[in-house]
Amino acid sequence: MPFIRTYLIISSIYTLMKEKFPGVYLIDRKLATHNKTPGYRVYGEKTVKKKGKEYRMWDPHRSKVAAALAKGMKTFPISPGSSVLYLGASSGTTASHIADIAETVYCVEFSKRMMRELLPVCDRKQNMIPILADARHPWEYSNTIANADVLIQDVAQPDQAGILLNNYDTFKFKHALLSIKARSINSAKDPKKVFKAEKKKLTQKFEILEQLSLEPYEEDHMLLNLKAK
Ligand SMILES: C[S@@+](CC[C@H](N)C(=O)[O-])C[C@H]1O[C@@H](n2cnc3c(N)ncnc32)[C@H](O)[C@@H]1O
Repeated sequence: MPFIRTYLIISSIYTLMKEKFPGVYLIDRKLATHNKTPGYRVYGEKTVKKKGKEYRMWDPHRSKVAAALAKGMKTFPISPGSSVLYLGASSGTTASHIADIAETVYCVEFSKRMMRELLPVCDRKQNMIPILADARHPWEYSNTIANADVLIQDVAQPDQAGILLNNYDTFKFKHALLSIKARSINSAKDPKKVFKAEKKKLTQKFEILEQLSLEPYEEDHMLLNLKAK
């Protein structure tokens, strides 16, 4: 037993930790964010304490942004001062990690059932602002949002590029992370053709910095890292 104790002490001292992007950490090569609400967990995620700070492990199987980071996304547009507009916040799994990194996260969700799960999360993580609205109608929430530098969009809708472009016309964000689910756009069409058509719609207003397939974390999903032209 003394051997196991010594092993545990040594391994906790030598846990490898690195800041991959401002506010995004790798702890033993796994993604994590610094928990702004220590002791509070959102979806049963593991937490780790390092030098008096608590970190929430960020699961790429539960979050498309984490999946893109795990797949080697080279640039990350969100930093501690960012104001983020999050379309399709659901119960706040990914949005809560973004809230650990950014200054403010405006969480748009149109399902009342998901909003009921999101509200207690926003109550604890006070830089998450819940907005019950349809992402296809940005005018419904334009008055609530002071400004947005980055958009994250993860809505299973047929016109995913169109929704992003509509929101861009209203908020003029500089960067966007767009998760495209091919089957929501056209379940009969080859996903490669669906991705190509969505990208084409975006290129007039956005430069595509990176495109990442989210497999094996998500099937037939792509994440586009976009910069406004
Ligand atoms: C795949 S889930 C999002 C998961 C979330 N991004 C995460 O990683 O924690 C998609 C969410 O988008 C919401 N949604 C779909 N269409 C929407 C719309 N037009 N406006 C707002 N929310 C929408 C759904 O209700 C659902 O909660």
